[in-house]
Amino acid sequence: MKISSVGFSKSCFVFFLGFCSLLLLLIPAFQPPAQLLDLPQPRPQVRPAPVKQAHHAEDPEPVGAGGAASDSGLKETHRKHIKTKDTRRDPSPHRDEDLKSSETLGGSSSQSRPPDQLTLKDIFIAVKTTKKYHKSRLELLIQTWVSRAEEQTYIFTDAEDKELLLRTGAHIINTNCSAAHNRQALCCKMSVEYDKFIESQKKWFCHVDDDNYVILPSLLDLLSSYHHSQDIYLGRPSLNHPIEAAERVKSDGSVSVKFWFATGGAGFCISRGLALKMSPWASLGNFISTAEKIRLPDDCTIGYIIEALLEVRLTHSDLFHSHLESLHKLPADSLLNQVTLSYGGFENRGNVVNIVRSFSLAEDPTRFKSVHCHLYPDTEWCPEPEPGHRT
Ligand SMILES: *[C@@H]1O[C@H](CO)[C@@H](O)[C@H](O)[C@H]1NC(C)=O
Repeated sequence: MKISSVGFSKSCFVFFLGFCSLLLLLIPAFQPPAQLLDLPQPRPQVRPAPVKQAHHAEDPEPVGAGGAASDSGLKETHRKHIKTKDTRRDPSPHRDEDLKSSETLGGSSSQSRPPDQLTLKDIFIAVKTTKKYHKSRLELLIQTWVSRAEEQTYIFTDAEDKELLLRTGAHIINTNCSAAHNRQALCCKMSVEYDKFIESQKKWFCHVDDDNYVILPSLLDLLSSYHHSQDIYLGRPSLNHPIEAAERVKSDGSVSVKFWFATGGAGFCISRGLALKMSPWASLGNFISTAEKIRLPDDCTIGYIIEALLEVRLTHSDLFHSHLESLHKLPADSLLNQVTLSYGGFENRGNVVNIVRSFSLAEDPTRFKSVHCHLYPDTEWCPEPEPGHRT
């Protein structure tokens, strides 16, 4: 009996131990499936962040006073394109600028893909000149960069020149404006330029003077970082502060308005989207009356309409250059990355860009022929490039 009672309590204890350990084994056995069910929940919270950043990278910032950062950003993308350009420098005599450019754009990685698949044909380039400079200034342009953008370059002047027209085949528009170098005459020409651009259906309006060299691949690269339907006004401010003028369009002139403007002598560009918004103050002669109201020159009036009336900021760019700058100070290694160049006139002949080849200063006093031969060594009148020499 004693043995059996001990035996019973012993077997009872063993059974109890067994039951407990079974319980302990069973409880964790239920846990893994529960954990598996919980796991997927945090996942959706991890994802959305990077998408927004990608959009930001493509958004060009319209820049007011703090333009430096955006300019250097533009130059970065610009340099990328310039690099790829070197590899395309083939000796074939008839290269198509547009084909070449769209190849660059299409061929670039999706990372640097521009928002607008732009070709040179999408850009309307207006050159402002006067009868006096047809021979001394215009012929040089027609011989150099205009020859590479004939279809989209329009020369706005104040006289008929059938001889020049026949010999060059360039688009020459007689504005019938006065040949005087005063506000009325200059605004009259700008007014015709604007109307012709609107009529052209092109995506970008770029204005230059007859002493500007336009580096077409750079211009295309710069505009390709924007979309023509955005409000874009690009150029170099001629002053380091905004101009102040009496507001005589929206009010009676008792209040003043401050605005930036791009200096016409360095060239500037306006997107079609923005140009269309300028219409009430710029189209069909309205530009002349707007300029008369505020009593300012043509390029200031453009700035006034865009910054003061439409409240769109000028995107400051240091890639545009006028004869008012110290052009010899431009670094030689980035000269061909600029959008426009210029040269000092009669009063400042020594003020030219610093480029070593292809012609001497006596043969090429403006340096435009040398610049042209660096960009297009296949041009028939350019000297044979030295073998192994890279520009
Ligand atoms: C200038 O005048 C001529 C002759 O009257 C005319 O044919 C031409 O269209 C005018 N140009 C402009 C831009 O209005």
